Amino acid sequence: MKFLSDVKTTVIDPPKSPPEAAPAKAFYLKTFGCQMNVYDSERMMEALAAQGYGETDNVEAADLVILNTCNIREKAAEKVYSDLGRIRDIKTARQKAGKDTVITVAGCVAQAEGAEIVRRQPAVDLVVGPQSYHRLGDLIARTGETKKSIIETEFSENEKFEALPKVRKRAAPSAFLTVQEGCDKFCTFCVVPYTRGQEFSRPVAQVVAEAQRLVEAGAREVTLLGQNVNAYHGAGASEETVSLAGLVRDLAKIDGLARIRYMTSHPRDMDDDLIAAHADVAALMPYLHLPVQSGSDVMLAAMNRKHTADEYIKLIARVRAARPDIALSSDFIVGFPGETEADFEATMALVREVVFAQSFSFKYSSRPGTPAAALDLQVPEDVKTDRLLRLQALLEDQQVAFNAASVGQKLDVLFERTGREPGTLVGRTPYLQLIHADGDAGLVGQFVPVTVTAYRQMSLTGRIA
Ligand code: SAH
Ligand code: SF4
Ligand code: F3S
Repeated sequence: MKFLSDVKTTVIDPPKSPPEAAPAKAFYLKTFGCQMNVYDSERMMEALAAQGYGETDNVEAADLVILNTCNIREKAAEKVYSDLGRIRDIKTARQKAGKDTVITVAGCVAQAEGAEIVRRQPAVDLVVGPQSYHRLGDLIARTGETKKSIIETEFSENEKFEALPKVRKRAAPSAFLTVQEGCDKFCTFCVVPYTRGQEFSRPVAQVVAEAQRLVEAGAREVTLLGQNVNAYHGAGASEETVSLAGLVRDLAKIDGLARIRYMTSHPRDMDDDLIAAHADVAALMPYLHLPVQSGSDVMLAAMNRKHTADEYIKLIARVRAARPDIALSSDFIVGFPGETEADFEATMALVREVVFAQSFSFKYSSRPGTPAAALDLQVPEDVKTDRLLRLQALLEDQQVAFNAASVGQKLDVLFERTGREPGTLVGRTPYLQLIHADGDAGLVGQFVPVTVTAYRQMSLTGRIA
């Protein structure tokens, strides 16, 4: 899964208040973590807009500050507390000027730590878990009434999706759509089963309707999101269970929806039907993010990943047989407790054998409450750093080679936005490569054949053909 180390989300549909109206209340929203949080932030912004809030990117001008947090690694969680310290100072300064500030912590740290957040930072007014965003407006109002901190971390599957506003007046050319939440896999290093709860799939009709609305609002590409998206098992029209492959096939019928992607998948849930869809659904893009974490069977077992390195390699061979040009990506963890040099070498060997187009690699971070945190044999920090650097050097070489091989090819590009320089555009190839080209802003949201002229590790440059 990809991470935004610290990215502020863009507003989807800011309310335009008439100039004579009293200034609307302003909110500042910062998103940490994965694409699921980005999606949730978009939905929260829509809900706030419907209640008359306007977005600001100046935290000092905000009546409402929301941090949508990530708990996956210690660094991500600690960043929240340092941000909260700064925001508390702003709240105090605003108070002196007679202005209130409601500080809200949402997302996975909120779910995992609940009241502990208020204990560590009493200036926090509201702690709200990912399943309760549809109650955000009420909860904010209650903080004003009670003048006490409110903690809301109940699980109520599906409710939030249906209860959040459905209006989508403007969507980016490439939009996110959460179809599945939670995880039942319980990898021993991971907090997600505790922060997002049990696996839950949205019904097919709900997903199709939302995708239709996104397309009407301008989306041409939809990325289906889930912590374990290929475990999707949503209710179909006659209550039958539909797999991710079935959902993809249904979505591919939507007029104007040209590209479908999905993320993140688990190797155990990569079934024949989904592999076949990569061969026969034209809208399904040739890109698969399938985290393997490690190439050592001992580590895979200790991580409770439920597959071996060899099973992963064979699975990849089947995927490649269905779609030979597919770009593969993975997540890796180095320095899981007990990882020896030989275990790490097994990861390097797997990477050399599979060959990835793009990857994300992390040093193991011990998370309170997970089984791995209690294991002996924690790997020293300098060993983790050394292994991470070696792995990343190999993965970088593979990514560069993948991009280099695109030079000279004419690829279909969906332009997503204008670039920093006037007259430039930024888009994605079918293989999810970022590509820059000169072109008119009117091409944003369109598919254009682009000849690739140059490459870097993270992006391509091309000429509109
Ligand atoms: N559901 C997805 C991804 C979940 S989190 C999957 O099964 O792969 C995204 C990535 O963060 C994981 O793939 C893993 O590589 C990394 N990660 C999760 N917990 C971690 C931890 N405790 N320390 C370091 N990396 C971790
Ligand atoms: Fe975490 Fe494993 Fe579930 Fe992925 S499959 S979210 S890594 S527990
Ligand atoms: Fe982070 Fe929660 Fe996503 S822990 S990775 S924001 S599911």
